[in-house]
Amino acid sequence: VPRTFNLCLLGFGNVGRALLELLLEKRDALRSEHGIEWRITGVATRRMGWIASPAGLDPKVLLEGSVSPPSLCARPAGVPEWLRAAQADVLFENTSLDFETGEPAISHLRAALEHGAHAITANKGPVVHAYKELSEVARRHGRRFLFESTVMDGVPIFSMFRDTLPLVEVTGFRGVLNSTTNVILGGMEAGKSFADSLRDAQVAGVAETDPAADIDGWDAAVKVAALALVLMKYPLKPQQVERHGIRHLTGESVRAAVAAGRRCKLVCEAERSAAGIRARVGPEEVSLADALARVEGTSSAITFYTDVFPALTLFEENPGPKATAYGLLADFITAVCRADDSMAR
Ligand SMILES: NC(=O)c1ccc[n+]([C@@H]2O[C@H](COP(=O)([O-])OP(=O)(O)OC[C@H]3O[C@@H](n4cnc5c(N)ncnc54)[C@H](OP(=O)(O)O)[C@@H]3O)[C@@H](O)[C@H]2O)c1
Repeated sequence: VPRTFNLCLLGFGNVGRALLELLLEKRDALRSEHGIEWRITGVATRRMGWIASPAGLDPKVLLEGSVSPPSLCARPAGVPEWLRAAQADVLFENTSLDFETGEPAISHLRAALEHGAHAITANKGPVVHAYKELSEVARRHGRRFLFESTVMDGVPIFSMFRDTLPLVEVTGFRGVLNSTTNVILGGMEAGKSFADSLRDAQVAGVAETDPAADIDGWDAAVKVAALALVLMKYPLKPQQVERHGIRHLTGESVRAAVAAGRRCKLVCEAERSAAGIRARVGPEEVSLADALARVEGTSSAITFYTDVFPALTLFEENPGPKATAYGLLADFITAVCRADDSMAR
């Protein structure tokens, strides 16, 4: 007999919408293969406010940009009231990243777990600033705090180590994890200046209007910190990652690397050292024999160094929003089908 879960979406931008589209696409398979039914009982953004309807909101209406008639919807004042009004079983937290504090997403996720809902996010902030605390709150309430989509979209990184590589010790990693800078560097290789390549990436919707978080290496540093914290168990803040962006690079220098048989990539890396950990983000000229030289456009790749597998590489080509949504969907299935597992952790 299928079980029906009430889902709440906090943040309904690119990721929230892609998730809803994927939930609709996979609705029949979720029911037949996993016995999972779902309805959206809450949606919230700063502009929309807190909308709750335990009977369920119409997904198609939500995707068209409006909500069910207000008379059918409760409009509570804040997160705990909203989760109660929506009778939430699962919260998907997909608001914007605050890499300095992780708020208000941390508070949203904590409220969900304390309410008794699973807390699932694509937002890296809560991972780097509150992984331990939120995991502990989840454990106390017999729920899951999951965040597969925070690094390399929905590619199974955290779940791969957690569920399929038990006891494997990660000693380091090296990868290209920021797509915006990779697209800009590709444009520079093709003959553009940094400024022109950045502008074209903005027009194409790859780079944000305020591109600082990407081009100064912050987004990559947050990913390095998340991987070091969760996979290497090292409490590293993004501010502690040695960080160099790509702002200072010229088209000429990037093309000179190509002429010398190398490619300029924004490399993310960490390795255990006697002092603890050495973690770094910065542009590097990699040889064409290096797997990272083959990362094109919005693709990404990472090699993990472990005590069992000397080097284990994951390569993701041209992901779209669906890939990010998939990580959230996979986390949802894990949360509701493996609730008992969480009690043991
Ligand atoms: N886009 C990707 O491919 C991708 C991939 C992996 C991870 N992520 C992460 O996923 C998250 C969402 O990304 P996105 O691309 O969907 O961003 P987005 O399109 O800018 O959407 C963000 C959503 O969050 C809402 N929001 C922001 N701050 C809020 C707050 N304080 N309270 C309530 N709602 C708030 C926004 O609506 P209002 O402005 O109306 O509040 C909007 O609906 C980010 O943390 C991002 O880093 C994104």
